[in-house]
Amino acid sequence: MTEPKYHLTSYGCQMNKLDSELVETKLQQRGYAVAIEEADADVVLINTCSVRQHAEDRVWSKLGKLRIRKRTEPNLVVGVLGCMAQEHKRYMLSRMPHVDLVVGPSSFGDIDATVEQARTRNAALVAEREPAKTKHEVVGAGMVSVDQGISGDSIKRNVKVRPHRSQAYMSIMRGCNMPCSYCIVPTTRGDEVSRPVADLVDEANRLVDDGVTEITLLGQTVNAYGRDLKGQDARLSGLLRELHKIPALRRLAFITSHPNFLSPDLIDALAELPKISRYLHLPAQSGSNSVLKAMRRGYTVERYKKRIEQLWEKAPDMELHSDFIVGYPGETEEDFEATVALMKELRFSQSYIFKYSARPGTVSAELVDDVSMADKNRRNQVLLAVQEELSAEQNQAMVGQTVEILVEGESKVAGRMTGRTSQHRLVHFESSDQGLCGQYVPVKVTEALAHSCLGDLLAHDAAEMSAADQASNDLAHADDQAGTSDK
Ligand code: 5AD
Ligand code: SF4
Repeated sequence: MTEPKYHLTSYGCQMNKLDSELVETKLQQRGYAVAIEEADADVVLINTCSVRQHAEDRVWSKLGKLRIRKRTEPNLVVGVLGCMAQEHKRYMLSRMPHVDLVVGPSSFGDIDATVEQARTRNAALVAEREPAKTKHEVVGAGMVSVDQGISGDSIKRNVKVRPHRSQAYMSIMRGCNMPCSYCIVPTTRGDEVSRPVADLVDEANRLVDDGVTEITLLGQTVNAYGRDLKGQDARLSGLLRELHKIPALRRLAFITSHPNFLSPDLIDALAELPKISRYLHLPAQSGSNSVLKAMRRGYTVERYKKRIEQLWEKAPDMELHSDFIVGYPGETEEDFEATVALMKELRFSQSYIFKYSARPGTVSAELVDDVSMADKNRRNQVLLAVQEELSAEQNQAMVGQTVEILVEGESKVAGRMTGRTSQHRLVHFESSDQGLCGQYVPVKVTEALAHSCLGDLLAHDAAEMSAADQASNDLAHADDQAGTSDK
């Protein structure tokens, strides 16, 4: 008998991608094989995101298509995983009766057993039915598995299952205890639960022993790490210092931070530890105090700026990434202009911009969603354009510099490879040499594009590169200061 095949589609954040890796580990350990095409799979799983309505709509539409497929393939197992599973639970099964399993993010620990059960039940249901009745009838095994309190992280991770040879994500905490008015994450992901430092150091060592040189730590409020580990004095700064000691680890990043936990000890760690990637993802969300207050973000624009000033005093080369929401209920043109002004003043190097989307069950869903879609679209476009201009200027400043990039793979353009700098900037160069994947190579930047740079691969020697990279970092640093003093 051939092994059963699964196909997994993942939407949403990096945390979801990592969860998907975990689900794949469990299935592969149980003898399942990957189906490259969804059409060839016996088990179709969708790892979902609930942060915005748009993300959910895509899943509802995909489920609609699978319902049609299941008419002719009644044995097919369809599973909804992640945030939408947690959020919609039984409603999912009544609206989509062909769905066989609904598994929330806290219950991935026994996902393989749940899938196996669904396959057995489907086979039994199909065998029991009269052939005539099966023609249009579409029934799923209908299992809900949410909130069992089994954290996926408690499973010893199979470090070999990961999409990149030299890069890996590591979830250091789950959930979120922040009260942001618009956000569904605390509902779908639950309370903050941090993993013990010793477990994380062990996992990092195993990843590095298996060839990983860049680790990105994940958490919804990653810099609040440890506050639930009472009496252990576990903090992100301490964890970074521990992981930094692993000799073969070359880059260490962490996402996503909350401005309220950008503490002096964390700033010191960023300033002192050279392996830490030189960017900080610190979502500001808005540049208007009244909007920030309504969002319950817990800081003012002045306080946000003060924190950044403190950061740049000690670590002036750290680039800033942000998230912004436009069109929050009650946001006026003046509020929006304040956001534009903040973006220009702090010269973020990358921003994700979202149109406000009311999520049922959140505090702000009770408010009138009074900014018209036309205004949301326009503000979104304006902010995107401002960010693009800033990014283009910053990319332009890189022309002529030699940067060290970690090669990630082929670019979308044939004959080009792509990698990232320690600031997370994308750089492409002419080459078809797959053997470069996972290597740190020097590239001389020759051209700035809107979202990335083009450059020439230089002959390299590991020892020489670290000196060249240092020199170019110093240059970049000088440019940054010139940029910020323009304010
Ligand atoms: N509407 C729009 N954007 C949202 N985000 C979170 N919730 C919403 C919402 N209801 C954005 C925030 C957050 C990012 C992950 O998604 O900017 O930082
Ligand atoms: Fe959502 Fe706020 Fe938590 Fe981020 S910090 S996940 S925006 S509640």
